[in-house]
Amino acid sequence: MRFGGLTAVSDVSFAARRGEITAVIGPNGAGKTTLFNCITGFYRPSSGSIRLHPASGPAIALHRLPGYRIARAGVARTFQNIRLFPGMTALENLLVAQHNKLMAATGLGIGAVLGLSRYPQAERAAIDLARQWLAATRLLERADDPAGALPYGAQRRLEIARAMCTEPLLLCLDEPAAGLNPRESDELARLLLDIRGQGTSLLLIEHDMGVVMRISDRVVVLDHGKLIAEDAPAVVRADPRVIAAYLGEGEEDEDAPPTEVPA
Ligand SMILES: Nc1ncnc2c1ncn2[C@@H]1O[C@H](COP(=O)(O)OP(=O)(O)OP(=O)(O)O)[C@@H](O)[C@H]1O
Ligand SMILES: [Mg+2]
Repeated sequence: MRFGGLTAVSDVSFAARRGEITAVIGPNGAGKTTLFNCITGFYRPSSGSIRLHPASGPAIALHRLPGYRIARAGVARTFQNIRLFPGMTALENLLVAQHNKLMAATGLGIGAVLGLSRYPQAERAAIDLARQWLAATRLLERADDPAGALPYGAQRRLEIARAMCTEPLLLCLDEPAAGLNPRESDELARLLLDIRGQGTSLLLIEHDMGVVMRISDRVVVLDHGKLIAEDAPAVVRADPRVIAAYLGEGEEDEDAPPTEVPA
């Protein structure tokens, strides 16, 4: 991905496997969010390809699709800076996420005019799914509160609930633990393991190494837009190139503990 003269992500090739949590880590400015923006269609990559392999059927070339088609293909995301609809209730935020399904159920309006709409059933199913994810994220009792009035940690959980209401094959999370206290981070880790357990694959950008090391199946490390490591968490955390990337080149301190990526 190039921005004018700046190459933000270059020659990065890896696979996020089905049913796994793949973490994407790296120092600030490494290109992690840019990578997500390419996968989810916010940017169209300058070159290269990104493919989604559904359990059945042919691979889908995401790099050729507009964002709304990528979402429909089964890729959902959350944002580094929370992007909810603050004036809508928590429940309404989760219903908006199911807009595609609901529109299809109206027969794009024609069925409704003819009184043939399946809309009431579809709406009930959408509310049920929303309530299921409100419960899973401990937000059920806040269902009717405006999203913007929720505490920060609750807003982060609501973003995950909203993404899950699209019933994605792949969930992309951009720093979901940012700003959470240790108890909330633990709870988040459990939620992500539950989501994996239900069959959704995850791509996880995260600076909280406690969370990354505990729940990831694989870790991909970016530095200056390049992939510098891809392996199991324990291998990556002991990789000298990864440690150097985090400490900054030429800034290694002899007194610093050499074998751990800083949290
Ligand atoms: N729209 C854009 N136009 C120009 N440059 C951009 C754009 N988006 C990102 N960049 C640049 O691309 C590089 C990678 O940025 P990116 O936001 O992907 O990093 P990151 O790994 O997510 O960092 P952080 O951990 O701070 O979130 C940076 O140099 C950034 O300034
Ligand atoms: Mg980022």
